[in-house]
This record gives sequence, structure tokens and C-alpha cells, in this order.
Amino acid sequence: MTNWKDIDHHAKSWIREAGERIRGSFATSLSIQTKSNPNDLVTNMDKETEQFFISRIKETYPDHRILGEEGYGHEIEDSKGIIWIIDPIDGTMNFVHQQRNFAISIGIYEEGTGMIGLIYDVVHDELYHAFKGEGAFMDDTPLPKLEHREVKEAIIGLNATWVTENKRIDPSVLAPLVRNARGTRSYGSAALEFAYVVSGRLDCYITMRLAPWDFAGGLVLLHEVGGIATTVSGEPISILERNSIFASRPGLHKEILNSYLNKA
Ligand code: IPD
Ligand code: CA
Ligand code: CA
Ligand code: CA
Repeated sequence: MTNWKDIDHHAKSWIREAGERIRGSFATSLSIQTKSNPNDLVTNMDKETEQFFISRIKETYPDHRILGEEGYGHEIEDSKGIIWIIDPIDGTMNFVHQQRNFAISIGIYEEGTGMIGLIYDVVHDELYHAFKGEGAFMDDTPLPKLEHREVKEAIIGLNATWVTENKRIDPSVLAPLVRNARGTRSYGSAALEFAYVVSGRLDCYITMRLAPWDFAGGLVLLHEVGGIATTVSGEPISILERNSIFASRPGLHKEILNSYLNKA
């Protein structure tokens, strides 16, 4: 029998410990490298944080598998068993340039079902956490169920890239939504943008391409407050692949899908 309470306890204590290490790194100088392009940054702290989780998990749960952004985990091709999906620092560009607006994200899945979702806002020392069927919390505060809000009163999480010429979506699809909404925001960390939808600070979040580690934790949290997440064309999200993401309050999800995104 899997002891989920034990896994939950360890995951929370490791994420806080990792956060403490990252806060401690602010006083040291970072080693920064680029990955796929000059704006795709990675630091020694991204790598060290991922390795920290991997060594803890392997030691304590040798039969669990790990999918992490920086590639120190396993090659994962199916969703069998228990899988930890980890983004050691989500929002690396913010981490490097701002020393804020980044998070650690963890989703723990069993046979493809999200069991635990954790997003840790390291600088604010705020842990968003959810266990399947038990609701979502920010530290000790329970987060209420999300209710509908109309586009004209909604704040939408959206990166400006998607309303300029780009290869994933015609800018004319999102421009009317930007015009009709109360406002738009872009925080540069998908995990925090998920946490903000979950806690009602944003009403929805739309982005054209995320990897599993960007959304695995957020999906579990969102589900627990009655939020809805699909691709931008309304399809189910596949957990081990890259997807476009539309995460939202219920009701608003339908309104935006029917009146705006269905033209995507
Ligand atoms: C990135 C951030 C960013 C999103 C990118 C992600 P990283 O993650 O979440 O907000 O727009 O698509 O890759 O690389 O900083 O972990
Ligand atoms: Ca990255
Ligand atoms: Ca990320
Ligand atoms: Ca990352």
C-alpha cells in the first residue's frame, strides 16, 4: 500500500528545504548558461535544486520515477506507477534578473492521475499545496472554490508574445480578448500563473506551449478549486507531452473558448 501521507509530508519538507537553499544562493554568484537560444537560461541553482530532489526521492522512494526539466531524472515514456514531475526553478529568467517571481513546482502522479500538487513561491515563502480530494491551500489557508466571472471583469494571464506575430497562434484571435478583458498580466512563471488562477489573483491563464514540469503541479491544484484546464482548442491536456494551456475559472473557460479561442 502506498503511504500517500508520508509522500506528501516529505515532498513539502523537501520543497521548503530546496527553497531555503535557493534563498541562500542570492548572496553567492550564479553560473548562468544558455540552452536552446540566448534567452533560454539555466543556472547552477536550477541544476543543483533538481539534483537535490532526485537524491532525496531515490533514497526514500527507490521505485518512484522522476521527470525533471534539467534532465537528471529518468527517461519517461509512459505514466505507469508513481512519477514526480519537477521544475526546480520555474521562471529562471526572473530568478536571474529579478531574484523574485519564480517558483519550485512539483506534481506527483499515480498511473497518470494527479495526487499531489505543490507550487512554492520561494521569495514570499508561500506554499500552494493540494492533495487529491482534499482541497487546495496556501500555507494553512484553504482556497475557496472558483466561481464564474465575465470577460469584462476578468484579469487574464497572457504573455505579449501571443498578440504579436508568432508561429503558434494568429494574433487576431487573442487581440479581441485583450481588448474586452478588464486587464492582462504576465508574470514570466507558468507555475506562479497557475497558482494565481488557483488563488483567484488571475481569472485565467493562456499560453501556447508548456512542458509537463511547467503545469504538472498546477493542474492538481486547479482541479481542487474547481478550475478547468484544457489546451487552447478545448482538448484534454496530455500530462507527459508539451501542450498549449488554457487554465481558468469555470464559466469563464466556456465563454472564452466559445467566443474567442474557437477561432484558433
Ligand atoms: C518558463 C516559464 C515561462 C514560460 C516558459 C517556461 P522556466 O519556465 O514558466 O513563464 O512562458 O514557457 O519555459 O524555463 O523558467 O522553467
Ligand atoms: Ca528552463
Ligand atoms: Ca518551467
Ligand atoms: Ca525551470
